[in-house]
Amino acid sequence: MLKVSELKKSFGTGGNRLDVLKGVEMEIQNGELVALMGPSGSGKSTLLNIIGGLMAADSGEIELNEHQYGRKGPAGVVDIRREHVGWIFQDFHLLNHLSAIDNVAMALEIGGVEAKIAQEKAIAALKKVGLGDRMTHKPEQMSGGQQQRVAIARAIAGDRPLLLADEPTGNLDIQSGKDVLQLFKDLCHDKEQPISILLVTHDPELASKADRMLLLNDGRTAASNIREAWGLDGGEEE
Ligand SMILES: Nc1ncnc2c1ncn2[C@@H]1O[C@H](COP(=O)(O)OP(=O)(O)OP(=O)(O)O)[C@@H](O)[C@H]1O
Ligand SMILES: [Mg+2]
Repeated sequence: MLKVSELKKSFGTGGNRLDVLKGVEMEIQNGELVALMGPSGSGKSTLLNIIGGLMAADSGEIELNEHQYGRKGPAGVVDIRREHVGWIFQDFHLLNHLSAIDNVAMALEIGGVEAKIAQEKAIAALKKVGLGDRMTHKPEQMSGGQQQRVAIARAIAGDRPLLLADEPTGNLDIQSGKDVLQLFKDLCHDKEQPISILLVTHDPELASKADRMLLLNDGRTAASNIREAWGLDGGEEE
């Protein structure tokens, strides 16, 4: 469902030129949770930004279902951002004065969904992330883990097939981080409507729980056996 081919991206020119992505190749199947790891500055966020249609690559190709892009600037991939890719960030990006339900519904309304349908979809999404009893709470009345689940509800409410999560557990305590990862797994492995998630994390323990791990290093991605690399094999399983 997602195929990235020969993707290259550099910043700057001349002596200041920095080649960040040097030919990234990767695929994600429908229903897969893939963890992306790599040193700080290796280009993880850059890769997500290009896949999410926020930035153009210098060369290469992205196929997301029937759509092809990669070198198109943000104005050329409006439909990708509106309908195909949902975002989850480290610091949630919720509107503090709005209830959980309004945070989710408003995002849908901006995308052109009629108010009443947006409400219904918001309620369904919040129930799906386990916040059925917190729908009228505002972000300040919720824990970090609950706020992140509102952000996840917002990302899935529009039935987007791919979620991009850039360090979504970075601001959460260990248990809330594990809960978010379990929720991601449930969403990907949902029998009725499986989605795919590309998750950037610095936490090898969480990454090892994904279906698959990729390591971005020196501008390229490679499959990574993080369980082995971090000596996690033989440890407890959930
Ligand atoms: N708009 C930009 N202009 C110039 N350089 C940039 C720009 N965006 C990113 N870079 C550079 O590209 C490199 C990769 O940045 P990126 O944010 O993708 O790394 P990252 O892997 O997400 O790092 P971290 O783990 O710290 O979040 C860095 O050296 C960064 O300084
Ligand atoms: Mg980053």
